Amino acid sequence: MVPIPFLDLPPLVGASGTLRLPGSKSISNRVLLLAGLADGVTEIHDLLDSDDTKVMLAALAQLGCGIEREGATLRVRGLGGRLAMHEAELFLGNAGTAMRPLAAALAVLSATQGGRFVLRGVPRMHQRPIGDLVNALRQLGCAIDELGQAGYPPLALYGAAGGALATGQAIRVRGDVSSQFLTALLLALPLASTEAAIAIEVEGELISKPYVEITLALLERFGIAVAREGWQRFTIPAASRYRSPVSIHVEGDASSASYFVALGAIAATQAPLRIEGAGSDSIQGDIRFIEAARAMGAEVRSQANALEVRRGAWPLKAITLDCNHIPDAAMTLAVMALYADGPSTLTNIASWRVKETDRLSAMATELRKLGAKVDEGADWIRVTPPTTWKAASLHTYDDHRMAMCGSLAAFGGVPVRIEDPACVAKTFPDYFETLFSLARAEPRQVPVIAIDGPTASGKGTLAAAVAERLGYHLLDSGSLYRVAALAAARAGLLDGDEADAQAIAALAATLPLRFESGHIWLGVEDVTDTLRDEAVGLAASRVSALPAVRQALHGLQLSFRRAPGLVADGRDMGSVVFPDAALKIYLTASAGQRAERRYKQLISKGISANIDALRADLLARDARDTNRPVAPLKPAQDALLLDNSAVTIEQSLAWVLDAWAQRRPFNSLSG
Ligand code: C5P
Repeated sequence: MVPIPFLDLPPLVGASGTLRLPGSKSISNRVLLLAGLADGVTEIHDLLDSDDTKVMLAALAQLGCGIEREGATLRVRGLGGRLAMHEAELFLGNAGTAMRPLAAALAVLSATQGGRFVLRGVPRMHQRPIGDLVNALRQLGCAIDELGQAGYPPLALYGAAGGALATGQAIRVRGDVSSQFLTALLLALPLASTEAAIAIEVEGELISKPYVEITLALLERFGIAVAREGWQRFTIPAASRYRSPVSIHVEGDASSASYFVALGAIAATQAPLRIEGAGSDSIQGDIRFIEAARAMGAEVRSQANALEVRRGAWPLKAITLDCNHIPDAAMTLAVMALYADGPSTLTNIASWRVKETDRLSAMATELRKLGAKVDEGADWIRVTPPTTWKAASLHTYDDHRMAMCGSLAAFGGVPVRIEDPACVAKTFPDYFETLFSLARAEPRQVPVIAIDGPTASGKGTLAAAVAERLGYHLLDSGSLYRVAALAAARAGLLDGDEADAQAIAALAATLPLRFESGHIWLGVEDVTDTLRDEAVGLAASRVSALPAVRQALHGLQLSFRRAPGLVADGRDMGSVVFPDAALKIYLTASAGQRAERRYKQLISKGISANIDALRADLLARDARDTNRPVAPLKPAQDALLLDNSAVTIEQSLAWVLDAWAQRRPFNSLSG
């Protein structure tokens, strides 16, 4: 599927329900690397499935690790500390959690066992510093070339078999740019272990200490007990060797939890929002985000492996906070600050500048678009809530956290556009689906695009394309009448000339219907294909003329109007069901064209057909749909007419999207 260029969120007003967090990114990639280096098979449960873990898995597979997936369980057969391949070129996307530790591990392995490895990423990865790690590895005697700019990837790591490393003296590494350099060394140096212990000394104040704690906790699970003196000196014991824990469980991502803690703090007014997968037992530093959320007024109940959050103080309370201990989750505080009773200041966040993007300047730029006043310094940001909120198109800089944070700005009473929403795949591929399963919008605020027209005009295809492109829900209202007709026929209610309207309506009101990824289920039966039968279409046209049936299906149709938006196709979407639709299209094509399209459709399915008979059928259905007294087929007064007899589906789609863009409160498609 082509990624959609933007996703529009209507103003959101409430949130409730339960969600299960995806696995922690930090834990997932560390566990993968350790399992890949350890002896034997490690069974990993609930691993995060995202862009960053995909690149790590691909790299491990390229290096010769065995990888098998079975449901939510992944089995990794590790290298046992021995290189299986001595040359490879690895592409690591924008995953810092893959680039840094793989660079360290492969530098050590090629220096001792011989080999040459090239590590690359996306252009942004080549702007993210790695010089401090390279320097530390060079002290050890590793051979590393920076293939682009000095201090940045891409890197070449090489060496000859039998080489020895200078592990006698302490290796010095800077800790004040990224804690991932220290993490990388800690994860990789057991590979260089001999009879003597190896010491690492941190220069400068170590930032993001909680991430180093995750590293130490996981090394421990893999049999390596690192001794730590304060945050300055770390010692890997002599004769260290990774031992697979055999089976390991990845807890839910605490940074991802921050968006839902914020959601609860902002919008869970009726009942608490329940977040499963991370809680007080978590080893992730970002779990301490809940302390900051509480300080802003959230009511958070913490259980071992779950959180329950509801709105407490409202507006939220402004805070001033040193965020060094929660660098990633702190971005969420910057957005919560939009709803506070005064300016909030987040300090000690210089590391924001070297992440997926320069997050400090990105956050400042985007929050200003919403009407907030934002001041920023080298390592701090101050957010003053908007006095008047403005609808804004938020740029996301290929940064998953900018996209997820941006979505939380939809509670300010104005619609918000998230550009390139698919970038959430880095850590939370289902983020928006999850958000929309919890957050509520006033139905009248949820935009509807109505596409009506006669049978075989192509409205179903067009509506599906528009919905896919906008990330909106789809209502094929004809299918509801078709299901009702199918159920009525099976119940023998359509046998005579006079249909029993009340009985059919009663049946229609209680249909056990389910819509699931493009399929329609009636009870336990997948009726998707059956519904397309011509006979069912004709029967649908009969039952749809009954006012009681239309009434019975009315509420069901309205229930499709949910955030982020709806594209509805049928006969009366714009005229009766959604009279306030933001855009109404009336799609037609000549009877000849429609008969020909239907003919081709049937022939391609191996069903024989006669074009003249089809044409006669179409005209008969048009006549019945047009002449019925209730909800007759006719363009809504404010509908735009589109005759697509001579245009392609792509052209029709572009035409509708253009009409839609003109009705949106955002300046242009790109922002
Ligand atoms: O669009 P489709 O051919 O699937 O619709 C089947 C029948 O259901 C139509 O012929 C029409 O009579 C009826 N219908 C309707 N109102 C709608 C959608 C379909 O009356 N909104």
